Amino acid sequence: MRRLFPVTDQTVTTDSGGPPPGAPGEGGGEGGGAAPDREWSLDELADAYAYPEPGSGEPGPWLRANMVSTLDGAAQHDGRSQPISTATDMRIFGTLRGLADVVVVGAETVRLEGYRPARARAEFAARREAAGQGPAPAVAVVTASLDLDFSLPLFTSPLVPTLILTGAAAAPDRVAAAEKAGARVVIAGDGMGVEPDRAVRALAELGHTRLLTEGGPRLLGQFVAAGVLDELCLTVSPMLAVGDAQRIAGGPSVAVPRRFALVSLLEEEGFLFSRYRRP
Ligand SMILES: NC(=O)c1ccc[n+]([C@@H]2O[C@H](COP(=O)([O-])OP(=O)(O)OC[C@H]3O[C@@H](n4cnc5c(N)ncnc54)[C@H](OP(=O)(O)O)[C@@H]3O)[C@@H](O)[C@H]2O)c1
Repeated sequence: MRRLFPVTDQTVTTDSGGPPPGAPGEGGGEGGGAAPDREWSLDELADAYAYPEPGSGEPGPWLRANMVSTLDGAAQHDGRSQPISTATDMRIFGTLRGLADVVVVGAETVRLEGYRPARARAEFAARREAAGQGPAPAVAVVTASLDLDFSLPLFTSPLVPTLILTGAAAAPDRVAAAEKAGARVVIAGDGMGVEPDRAVRALAELGHTRLLTEGGPRLLGQFVAAGVLDELCLTVSPMLAVGDAQRIAGGPSVAVPRRFALVSLLEEEGFLFSRYRRP
């Protein structure tokens, strides 16, 4: 993998074949070393995708989305994102989880992708401990119906109790079933549904300020429309899927398209790993 933006000397091969000073993986030693197009360690990826530091001028919680899209805008193939992803995309997916306090996901993605609890990974253990985080992020499922299989490991055996974000008018028997399974139900809306800005606030009140949403498109569209999305990590997959797949964000269009700024762009085997943030 190599960095295309911001442009650094690392973007091109140096005479010695090694990365220039300051590039990821540059150990400060003499000459030699890996060529720029090489596998990045999880530590390097974690540095590249670090959340804004507290006190860096970014008040409150930070909501980042991680999504993958084909060249023609498909966010899934045959109902899953895996066919349009790649191993490096999954490494970045895992890294973003490794940095997050909580993973926020729509119930349909949980149902279709068979979501499991987030794992504790040794590679991120020291970093998480230093950041005051538990061993793995909590998963927070956004749902109005609570039509979820509460016998699944996501609810019965996570490292951190799974959260259910729902509205105050959610069916009491479903709420009871969720709680009986071990999930923690958090109300973030007055009606059946969740209000996106309230969801972010409710998670922050629980101490979750490094938020990661993995979609799906219907949920992401609401975060965008509500103006609470801070950052988008978008993998552009060098594939054309045609068909009628969803785009990465769905729902009613916003009055004026939201402009985001490019923060970084990595490339491997034609896959582009971009990172955009609100200005
Ligand atoms: N390309 C990617 O990066 C990517 C990422 C994620 C998912 N996907 C794909 O996207 C597809 C699923 O996405 P999707 O857009 O159909 O669904 P989704 O956003 O994952 O989930 C929609 C569901 O979330 C709940 N929900 C959403 N907004 C809510 C609100 N404001 N209040 C309460 N509940 C709310 C509802 O659940 P209830 O029905 O339970 O009320 C709704 O049916 C799958 O095919 C998946 O593979 C792709």
